[in-house]
Amino acid sequence: MTDASISAAPAPMEGHGAYNRSSRVQSAGLSPAILLLEEAARVVPLPDASQPILIADYGSSQGRNSLAPMTVAIRRFRDRVGPAQAISVVHTDMPDNDFGALFQTLVNDPKSYLRGDPAVFPSAVGRSFYQQILPSGSVTLGWSSWAVQWLSRTPAQIPDQLQVAYSGDAAAREAFTKQAVEDWRTFLISRGRELRDGGRLVVLTMALRDDGDFGYRGVLSAMYAALLSLIDDGLISAQEARRMAIPTVGRSRADLAAPFLENGRCGELSIEHLDVFEGDDLIWRQFAQDHDAGKFGAQWAAFSRASVFPTLVLGLNGGAGDARAGAFVENLEARMATRLAAAPEPMLIPLARIVLLKEETC
Ligand SMILES: C[S@@+](CC[C@H](N)C(=O)[O-])C[C@H]1O[C@@H](n2cnc3c(N)ncnc32)[C@H](O)[C@@H]1O
Repeated sequence: MTDASISAAPAPMEGHGAYNRSSRVQSAGLSPAILLLEEAARVVPLPDASQPILIADYGSSQGRNSLAPMTVAIRRFRDRVGPAQAISVVHTDMPDNDFGALFQTLVNDPKSYLRGDPAVFPSAVGRSFYQQILPSGSVTLGWSSWAVQWLSRTPAQIPDQLQVAYSGDAAAREAFTKQAVEDWRTFLISRGRELRDGGRLVVLTMALRDDGDFGYRGVLSAMYAALLSLIDDGLISAQEARRMAIPTVGRSRADLAAPFLENGRCGELSIEHLDVFEGDDLIWRQFAQDHDAGKFGAQWAAFSRASVFPTLVLGLNGGAGDARAGAFVENLEARMATRLAAAPEPMLIPLARIVLLKEETC
């Protein structure tokens, strides 16, 4: 692999709080996993009162979608230990994440878990979660939503698509599958080290439906068609477009369970719960009520812009600093929105919820 933009780690979500503003789909999708987090917070063993309870939030982005799960977990811990014991909430993400927006959200959002609880202490870690990033045996309860579908790097070019799930290129599919296997295992081994004995980690991630469907078909075909139109109009070159790929994967139930097949464990973790379900398509539900096709297109385009366009920009000759980066993003979003508005359709959103347990040792 010689092309740096292809092997690089993905870019963070769009900054200046944009992801916070355009992630309602993710917010709706993660809510069924909060029930599992709540149950985990009821049963995990707690450190004694002199030690902080530590909740880790892996891949927090700008924090808005972490507020509901963290609030629920803190509430359950307060039921168990009362108001005095310190609770530390550690939000983790890549080093170039918009951590400023995260801390503004924690201070200013009316739904912040900091409200009314002076013994909760938030902090952040800016390092990839594909390694150990917290001390061994320190995490009481872990949470990760919409994050582990991002691979540690883009393992290959996708010559005929932006998302490998829709590619017919065997080499690209193989490279992405291999990377996905490696990354899931690395994530699990690292989290297993960080959890306390008896601790739980709740993961919500993009998945494959049991028939193998990755979903988001309309969104992804509008994105790819809009990208090709930018080549036709000379805004980007074909070579730049070829370097653009979304380094995310949907994992099937079997993919998620595979590292545990040999003896029921992956590192120090075992699976307590795993299911695949369909996320709430609230953009379609809204369209069914207001029949506003323009809004339908704009909302899916904004969702895509906030989450994946910063990574696509890396394919421009000048990367994120390319003089055309702003125009590229604006044009891609507008063209996608127009295409989606022309033929609104429901979007399949396959998701997986997993609860992982680090078993107590005697
Ligand atoms: C789609 S956002 C999810 C944000 C939030 N958890 C939610 O549910 O809406 C994915 C986040 O995962 C982060 N992420 C991706 N790969 C990561 C890695 N290797 N280490 C840490 N964070 C990562 C991204 O930077 C991004 O902020």
